[in-house]
Amino acid sequence: MMFKRALTTTTAKSKTILSGIQPTGIPHLGNYLGAVNNWVRLQDVDPVTQVKPVNYYMIVDLHAITMPQRPDELRASKFDMATALLACGIDPEQSALFEQSRVRAHSELAWILNCITPVGWLGRMTQWKSKMDVSREKSISHAQILADESLTSGLRMGLFDYPVLMAADILLYKATHVPVGEDQTQHLELARDIAKLFNTTFKTRLFPKPTGIIPPSTKRVMSLRDPQVKMSKSDPSDSSRINLTDTPSVIQSKIRRATTDGVRGISYDPKERPGVANLVDILAAVRDISADQVIQSVADVQSTKVFKDMVAEALIEKLVPIQKDIERLRNDRGYVEQVLQAGAQKANAVANENIEQVYKAVGLR
Ligand code: TYM
Repeated sequence: MMFKRALTTTTAKSKTILSGIQPTGIPHLGNYLGAVNNWVRLQDVDPVTQVKPVNYYMIVDLHAITMPQRPDELRASKFDMATALLACGIDPEQSALFEQSRVRAHSELAWILNCITPVGWLGRMTQWKSKMDVSREKSISHAQILADESLTSGLRMGLFDYPVLMAADILLYKATHVPVGEDQTQHLELARDIAKLFNTTFKTRLFPKPTGIIPPSTKRVMSLRDPQVKMSKSDPSDSSRINLTDTPSVIQSKIRRATTDGVRGISYDPKERPGVANLVDILAAVRDISADQVIQSVADVQSTKVFKDMVAEALIEKLVPIQKDIERLRNDRGYVEQVLQAGAQKANAVANENIEQVYKAVGLR
């Protein structure tokens, strides 16, 4: 009840916060420190305005199918992601947590936005360009891709259109703030451009310009194997990332094997010492302090091994309670499903109202 009232009486000052995550099963540390940790914080009353924000967090299953998925695995991964998000601290009383495909207006708005978005804007997106480089348009069937994981997909329309669906996600709720990692900034910029284009085309002020909320030090958590590239689910090496459900001994071993350098002592120099800087950023985020404070606290630590053990210990301390909660929630399927259903209901109430306004603005009503 409380939530419903908050949704319908959004004041000028209250923020509408929205973000999404792909249903990869279990988030990795990059997802957590780059985005989900912020989602959790942003549920609280805004310390500056003292106004409670309205929060929408989605499992973006429609985005997931832009790459081939096995249906049963997709279903299972969505459930696992929901349990992980709840265990990380998404509070269903304060946020609508839902599956994107449960709100049909996402697809409807994406279509309308498709009809005004210039193709050239999408052709410039780096994510599309990098996928195009990898794939080189292999002419293979969907069934072949599903049968052989080593094959990269021939490029599909849905993948090209991915950023328009993401713009639709954001604009559908008239979101004002979008907490994401740095890799989403180009997508967010496009959403802003599309908002402006829609407003100008249809002489309306329907869509506000969404602002990104990007954490300063963990906007790009790097791979543990190669600190020049970001930590990612698609990296074939599992030791390049910490998964939120990695056991303490796995966490310790991955951190111990993390690529660093032969320099003695711990300093913060992302250019010259990217591996060490990545670990400093991780430790700072997990302890909720600055990189400078980490460096001060390890002034007398000479060995990287000792420092790595400190990082591993802090991570274990942070992740074990989350892991316990994931386990508990996995055994309470009914509860998780009920949360997702209630989340979709809350989201639909707003989305259906807003899509009608869009239809009117465009002349479809
Ligand atoms: P996805 O699922 O790839 O990632 C979810 C969130 O995790 C962040 N992230 C990282 N942050 C720091 N360091 C890393 N190594 C790292 N890896 C991932 C991402 O920036 C993201 O915030 N397109 C989006 C999902 C999406 C969305 C939206 C987001 C769909 N619709 C609307 C915001 C608003 C994606 O694929 O995120």
